[in-house]
Amino acid sequence: MRERTFVMVKPDGMTKGLTDEIVARIERAGLKIVSMRRMKLDRGLAEELYSVHRGKDFFERLVEHVLSGEVVVMLVEGGRAIVRMRELSGATDPAKAAKGTIRGDFGSSITENIIHAADSAESAGQEMRIFFGEPEKQG
Ligand code: CMP
Repeated sequence: MRERTFVMVKPDGMTKGLTDEIVARIERAGLKIVSMRRMKLDRGLAEELYSVHRGKDFFERLVEHVLSGEVVVMLVEGGRAIVRMRELSGATDPAKAAKGTIRGDFGSSITENIIHAADSAESAGQEMRIFFGEPEKQG
């Protein structure tokens, strides 16, 4: 099934100069980057992106991290794009992520884990709407 998802290179990925590497991995996987933008989030956007985590003990750390520098946001399209981007990203905690995945190869901690990729069709819809003004429903 062709679908679209939301992906973001976090500030630690930017500092480590990984944007080109991440773009190359996405394209080699046969996925298409439909739109891509370098930007600095403001607190409102960061808190909206991570609203499902509000109230959790790591929420503030997570928001502070994504506000600590520039990010690159991407709209990625292709067959099973949501799951495929999660597979390319690897487990949330880089210590548990397989080698060959973006987090497994480059991540340094659960907060500094290089990349964000929407975890469901629902979050992909919400996140694309926030950053690209895409409609929430797919299909
Ligand atoms: P991301 O894919 O951006 O989505 C939510 C983020 O919350 C996740 O990557 C991690 O960076 C962070 N996160 C999730 N669980 C924890 C945790 N237990 N402790 C700290 N940060 C976490």
